[in-house]
Amino acid sequence: MLEHDVIIVGGGLAGSRAALAIKQTHPSLDVGLVAKTHPIRSHSVAAQGGIAASLQNVDSEDAWEAHAFDTVKGSDYLADQDAVEFLAKDAPNTIIDLEHMGVLFSRLPDGRIAQRAFGGHSHKRTCYAADKTGHAILHELVNNLRHHGVTIYEEWYVMQLILEDNEAKGIIMYHLLDGHLAVVRAKAVMFATGGYGRVFNTTSNDYASTGDGLAMCAIAGLPLEDMEFVQFHPTGLYPAGVLISEAVRGEGAYLRNSEGERFMEHYAPKQMELAPRDITSRAITLEIRAGRGLHPDGTAGGPCVHLDLRHMGKEKIMSRVPFCWEEAHRLVGVDAIHQPMPVRPTAHYSMGGIPVNTEGQVRWNGDTLVEGFFAAGECACVSVHGANRLGSNSLLECVVYGKRTGIKLAQYVQNRKMPSFDAQTYLDKAQKRIYGLLEQEGNMRIGQLRQQFQDCMSEHCGVFRTDAIMQEGLDKIRQLQDQYHQIRLDDQGDCWNTELIEALELGNLLVVGEMILASAYNRKESRGAHSREDYATRDDEKFLQHTLSYYSPAGIDIQYMPVVINRFQPQERKY
Ligand code: FUM
Repeated sequence: MLEHDVIIVGGGLAGSRAALAIKQTHPSLDVGLVAKTHPIRSHSVAAQGGIAASLQNVDSEDAWEAHAFDTVKGSDYLADQDAVEFLAKDAPNTIIDLEHMGVLFSRLPDGRIAQRAFGGHSHKRTCYAADKTGHAILHELVNNLRHHGVTIYEEWYVMQLILEDNEAKGIIMYHLLDGHLAVVRAKAVMFATGGYGRVFNTTSNDYASTGDGLAMCAIAGLPLEDMEFVQFHPTGLYPAGVLISEAVRGEGAYLRNSEGERFMEHYAPKQMELAPRDITSRAITLEIRAGRGLHPDGTAGGPCVHLDLRHMGKEKIMSRVPFCWEEAHRLVGVDAIHQPMPVRPTAHYSMGGIPVNTEGQVRWNGDTLVEGFFAAGECACVSVHGANRLGSNSLLECVVYGKRTGIKLAQYVQNRKMPSFDAQTYLDKAQKRIYGLLEQEGNMRIGQLRQQFQDCMSEHCGVFRTDAIMQEGLDKIRQLQDQYHQIRLDDQGDCWNTELIEALELGNLLVVGEMILASAYNRKESRGAHSREDYATRDDEKFLQHTLSYYSPAGIDIQYMPVVINRFQPQERKY
């Protein structure tokens, strides 16, 4: 059996930053990090627009309090304000720390780190590396992991969290290379497993964002928090859904409908294209519904709107957002220097996740913590984003709370013994599950079932929702879950069996999808990204609370937990 003081699942920004923090705090600790891809291919690498911090390099009026307020207002007052305060206060040092590690941020002419405007932020505070910010940060972190002697398990797929008697004891993992199963025992386990964008048929997320960590927690009986809050990024390139960064609007691009109108003036007259994402995505959806969308050939009545960069000029486009230009050119043949890009909302980010306290320790509920179990990054809900995240706050959350969780873990494991459990039982169970999938005699293809599921989620739990549409979605999901037992795999081998991994991932997607739908169905109000046509307003009296959803094969149990409000009282949200 493999053993580490700490085993971290996930090689993106949060997991890498935590591993590094542990080694920086107590270099003698033995840290393992498992990634289902190569760590540098974790989805953090795709983050484009930037990372927020009130550095005051561009806007001397900025302050951490303003950043905290913008974040809480953006969250539609559902964020926990103690967690937001730490995030906003720590942000400037976090950027300097990254800079000292070697991250190549874009610069102002005088050499200081450049900062740009982003949606919902009242000041220019987003630091960036052109439109490849995640790439720039992740590469430095992963280099540092190797330098500090973290053991990296590349291309191992984690199948189960070992949780006994309210205590995390380890994980079971499967090696893609040769089908080998291994048990890892650890004094503490940390999940930094990222999001679940692949629940939806159109997403900015990579193929690996299948909510594995969330599903493993749910199946182990742990709650998931605020799963109804799914962020739809306003500008997914149509039809691919890949991200066209908000930085493009931060640098001055316009959104236009089929009449050529900058329609955001009807939805957010002050902030226009830089309104928060929930508002902008709703505005685009309403324009399309009203027949003012466009077809790819530019004729009216189609499924997208235009993102117009032309007035920005070639020099600015190619220096500030070159990757977005390239995406549009490569994927849809649009040269954004001369033509507008076709865009529409795309599933982008999970505001909810595994409930954790401000030191990253996982919670059973409002009062009790899970021993030996920590989480950070997109898979976790600390909750700094509440009902709607502001752009450029997610990289910040990964780095700030990744580091904080790592420091806590380094202290936490000092007084802990290596846990004991019957590893063989877990191995046998995992092996049985794999054989079960390989030998299953069905007639359903994975791709077919996954497509039906993703279509169902997009149709029944998209930008706008109602009771009736979600109830229908829940019924369909349960039917699709039954069909999971009829999938047939062609590949029976144990070398690079990616079909088997897709089958395991699909099982996870189905669990996560049901939890999103059930949480959304039960929240009978509109708040942030959760927009109900049958309950059109926010209802603080009943729903200024976090949802905790508990999975069981028989159905989802929903409970609620208070929000931490200590500085900013809820107000009407106007932009
Ligand atoms: O639009 C973007 O570049 C995305 C940034 C984010 O999600 O924070």
